[in-house]
Amino acid sequence: MIHEKRVLLKNLGKINPASIDDYEKAGGYKAIRKALDMNHLLVIDEMMNSSLRGRGGAGFSTGLKNKFTSESCLRCEQKYLICNADEGEPGTFKDRIIMENDPHLLIEGMLIAAYAIGASKAFVYLRGEYYRSIDMVTLAIKTAREKGYIGSKIFGSDFSVDIEIRLGAGSYLCGEELTLLESMEGKRGYPRIKPPFPAEKGLFGYPTLVNNVETLATIPVIIAEGSEWYSKLGIPESPGTKIFTISGDVANPGFFEVEMGTTLRDIVYGLAGGIKDGKRLKAMLLGGAAGTFVDETVLDTPMAYDSLKEKGAVLGSGAIMVLDETRSILCMTQSILEFFKHECCGKCVPCRVGTDRLVRMIKDINRGNENRFTLEEMVDEAGYIAKTSLCPLGQSPIMPLASLQRYFNDQF
Ligand SMILES: Cc1cc2nc3c(=O)[nH]c(=O)nc-3n(C[C@H](O)[C@H](O)[C@H](O)COP(=O)(O)O)c2cc1C
Repeated sequence: MIHEKRVLLKNLGKINPASIDDYEKAGGYKAIRKALDMNHLLVIDEMMNSSLRGRGGAGFSTGLKNKFTSESCLRCEQKYLICNADEGEPGTFKDRIIMENDPHLLIEGMLIAAYAIGASKAFVYLRGEYYRSIDMVTLAIKTAREKGYIGSKIFGSDFSVDIEIRLGAGSYLCGEELTLLESMEGKRGYPRIKPPFPAEKGLFGYPTLVNNVETLATIPVIIAEGSEWYSKLGIPESPGTKIFTISGDVANPGFFEVEMGTTLRDIVYGLAGGIKDGKRLKAMLLGGAAGTFVDETVLDTPMAYDSLKEKGAVLGSGAIMVLDETRSILCMTQSILEFFKHECCGKCVPCRVGTDRLVRMIKDINRGNENRFTLEEMVDEAGYIAKTSLCPLGQSPIMPLASLQRYFNDQF
């Protein structure tokens, strides 16, 4: 019998998220005190040694990103930290769970990261429709500021930092870190060309660290318990825990925090109670719209970055959408491709024209005109878009389409 391993979510349901005192009684704000007693480079070393990988989807080393930002432009008078709380990936709601239930954990993680890189200003870029998260994080910032935990010379140290919230306006693309920077600067949500990366030239041209909510909420745990303790969780290839959000045709949908490397079978059949109404499993979409479809042959694969890659799948944001035998893979594909078309910003031609063409192709297939387009042609089209478009949104449709070719070719 599989059980959750609640490391990030350990306070969930046990403390009043609106009470800073509750958070402190549960051991909160000890990690930042410990961090401030350490040299900031040692804090970064702890992140490196933990082997934590970003939980926003790309899985980049958190320690390295901190190191790059800390070392970037040493003479710059300003550095920024941005918490990416846009959470736009379909099927993903893990960041909301953290913000609504333990907002001070996020604030503490942000304080530690800001100290590590030397940022005196931090922002939470928060999804505008997340009303309760906005309320909870706003309150957490207010109460932490009143206690002197945010502001000038925090906890009696020489380190000063302020945190503010900026609201997103409903664009999926604005969750992408460079587009997010444009949005934060008050501009239209168009992507920027990489390089330069945010660590080098980010918000208003200054070195900026952009990290996901779950990533930042993990940092107090690593500092409090030590990187050695943390890296023993999960599997060596992907240490730690991960919050998975599972939706669709399962008996018990919701969120589950488990050790990395837990199998899909344990999550879908163990924690989520299996397929509802006694039906059979058809497919699982891992990582959201920009994710990959898999079938039951992947059920015993450890949920971790590299082992999923071997199966042509991704962990992404940790979303798992389950489709039972009655669901149409083709309808689901159409829905995903319409999503990309709708969210395409229109800046570059390959993505603007290509996402529209993909929708026309799948509609054509769904109408039964099988002689006109094939899945192979759609994969080719998505491949051209991926190679020629400016930003990662254009590189996304190939993900689900290539996985369909591998696992569900017969459905087309
Ligand atoms: C189209 C698109 C949307 C994204 N949306 C989000 C998002 O809502 N939240 C998030 O944390 N990362 C999102 N990302 C990933 C970010 O660009 C970035 O990799 C992440 O915030 C880095 O944080 P991490 O290192 O902690 O994972 C998105 C990426 C793309 C391409």
